[in-house]
Amino acid sequence: MLHFPVSTPTLNTIEEEPGTPVPKVILDVPGPSRTNEIKGNIQDIGEAGSLHKYLISLHRQYGPIASFWYGDTQVVSVADPDIFQQQMHMFDKPIEFNSAYMPLLGDESIVYAKNARDRRQAYDRCFTTDRIDIYCPIFQEAAGELVRKWREKTEGEQIHLNTDMATFSLKVILDTFFGDHFEQEEVVAAFERAYNVCWCEMESRIVEDAPPRGSDRHTKFEEAITTMKNIIKSAAMTRELTLMEGSEELLIDVMIEQSPNEEHLFADSLTYAVGGYHTIANLLTWCFYYLAAHPEVQERVVREMMTVLGEAGSVSSQNVKKLEYLMQVIQETMRCAVISPWASRYDRQDGKLGVYYIPKHTPIIQALGVVLQDENYWPDPQRFDPDRFNTATAATRPAFAFQPFGFAGDRKCPFDLFTYVETTECLLSVLRQFELQLVPGQDVHRVYGLVTHPSQNIKITLKQR
Ligand code: HEM
Repeated sequence: MLHFPVSTPTLNTIEEEPGTPVPKVILDVPGPSRTNEIKGNIQDIGEAGSLHKYLISLHRQYGPIASFWYGDTQVVSVADPDIFQQQMHMFDKPIEFNSAYMPLLGDESIVYAKNARDRRQAYDRCFTTDRIDIYCPIFQEAAGELVRKWREKTEGEQIHLNTDMATFSLKVILDTFFGDHFEQEEVVAAFERAYNVCWCEMESRIVEDAPPRGSDRHTKFEEAITTMKNIIKSAAMTRELTLMEGSEELLIDVMIEQSPNEEHLFADSLTYAVGGYHTIANLLTWCFYYLAAHPEVQERVVREMMTVLGEAGSVSSQNVKKLEYLMQVIQETMRCAVISPWASRYDRQDGKLGVYYIPKHTPIIQALGVVLQDENYWPDPQRFDPDRFNTATAATRPAFAFQPFGFAGDRKCPFDLFTYVETTECLLSVLRQFELQLVPGQDVHRVYGLVTHPSQNIKITLKQR
């Protein structure tokens, strides 16, 4: 049995409960009428192929602030850097767009919990700038394993990027969050299998109904959740048994401290694992893809690495900032691939966005990805060009035109620095050893879900440097 603290964590003083019903009809924000009385425009979102694609056409037609119907709730979507800035005070997330996660994460997840602010602050102390360096040896070990695996390939043998990046990313997340329990490969593999079942299910539920109880799909989903919870429970128990005085505090330690019961612990452990796994796996996949497709960019990254780090230097939270061009490559990859297409909020007060009055509790989509592809800020937006992020060019854009990690209410993604350091370590470890080449004839498209992934497993080959 896990030992939870006897005191319950403090609740925020909240005057209005999240999930309070929103008004059924709002104002004059332009947008389509609902195509179905009960489902609103959900079918249109499904037909567009994803919420992101729906938002692109919505904003193209109705402008930077537009509305649509998600079921019987009217939603406002914003795709404008200046109007983003007007939302800086908003902390709470609406249930509508996060309910797809609920069957997996449970009712207690930090994503929609009442005491989210306290928990966010507690967890954030594991990911401050000086704490990131504690995780660097984990990034190095995982990158070393990847390089060893790739060294065994014969010249010309194809690498399946998505698969190898998923393995890399999961290993890092589990080791940094939970400690030693995930040393055994079969535990990681069992977690990965169960996770993939759940992830597909959640992505489907943004654009279509959940499968009926008792159906094969539903049963598989429930089984996968149980598997993951059992693994997390064992990881927490292992951690409690092996924790010694003076050990570095890990996320799991803070979660145990903050959780009044097991469900709470499962909810936040899964929330953080979900947050970190596919995002970095896909970011790395897209980075390697663009580097392989642009040999001149690849060579410039290698030259910069040799100047800043020399033959064998490793990455830290400090020297990562000196690798300016590589940072530009990672940023341009996040922009081009639209890794995380949207965030969401509601305000506890009535207010204004742009010229429109917005009643409190109205769900608001922050269409981050629409802005990342807006040609007003990114000429020829489909073209991959890391020089868009050099200091001079970046200064010509509004700051809120590039917000891949969200921005509002002290609740943007807590992992921006973690992401840059982990990604840099992986890319440089590989580039130090190999020249990357794209296997010709691949027709790669972006598939926009909760995280954007390529339409197929991208294939590259390696040449020893
Ligand atoms: C490519 C890298 C990543 C991108 C583009 C990304 C993007 C985002 C975005 C857009 C949000 C919503 C922010 C908001 O609502 O304002 C978010 C939240 C979150 N992300 Fe990330 N993320 C990345 C990496 C990570 C990693 C590595 C982790 C964990 C290790 C993580 C964990 C989380 C968590 C837990 C939240 C929810 C925070 C809360 O609700 O308080 N993310 N992320």
